[in-house]
Amino acid sequence: MLRLVRLLALLLVLLLGGTWAFAWVTRAPGESLGDAFAGRLALLFGTAPTGGANLGGLQLPQGLSLGGAFTLVDQTGRTVTERDFAGRWMLVYFGYTYCPDVCPTELGTIAAAVDSLGPLAEKLVPALVTIDPQRDTPAQLADYVSRFHPRMIGLTGSPEQVAEAARRYRVYFSRVNRAEAGDYLMDHSSFVYLVGPDGRVRSLFRPEASPDDIAAAVRIQLTRAAGA
Ligand code: NI
Repeated sequence: MLRLVRLLALLLVLLLGGTWAFAWVTRAPGESLGDAFAGRLALLFGTAPTGGANLGGLQLPQGLSLGGAFTLVDQTGRTVTERDFAGRWMLVYFGYTYCPDVCPTELGTIAAAVDSLGPLAEKLVPALVTIDPQRDTPAQLADYVSRFHPRMIGLTGSPEQVAEAARRYRVYFSRVNRAEAGDYLMDHSSFVYLVGPDGRVRSLFRPEASPDDIAAAVRIQLTRAAGA
């Protein structure tokens, strides 16, 4: 029993220590270490930062801003930037059309969330940003996203444009060659981002968040924005 208590205490110390170190590394310029620590703890446990209302999903720690400017190419071949979506909300997912499992699941979740929002969804653009621009041409994306939702858009671009967009959302991706199959997979992080009318991420959702979780958060944020 005592051993179990010691083990749990050790785990707690490691967890808090790790979070502290993470806060130290990722804190914004001018942000106090205490604030950064509280923010990273909130992210870890999926709660709103102290004093904030529960807006659904994971709130970004204070001082951490994701999203912003990008230049990409949509599924019709048109070059688009964040300004083309100004004033609209987006549900953004970074993935790729050759993904064997996780991407289809997450895109299905986004499509279901959009459908469950009814008329509110008209203010919302569901989007897949590929992290595999080499294979995901506009035509390839057009075909793929239409299988999930008629309003879903696909965004690709040059490798540099895609890497820059991924960097702004802190999306991790890496190519994994499969010698035996003569092709490759993309290893990638798998969050769903709710992006506000200013192009900044308002909430993010862990992989395997349900359509209801996402729809609830979108409803809270859009209603709040409309009432403010
Ligand atoms: Ni994937």
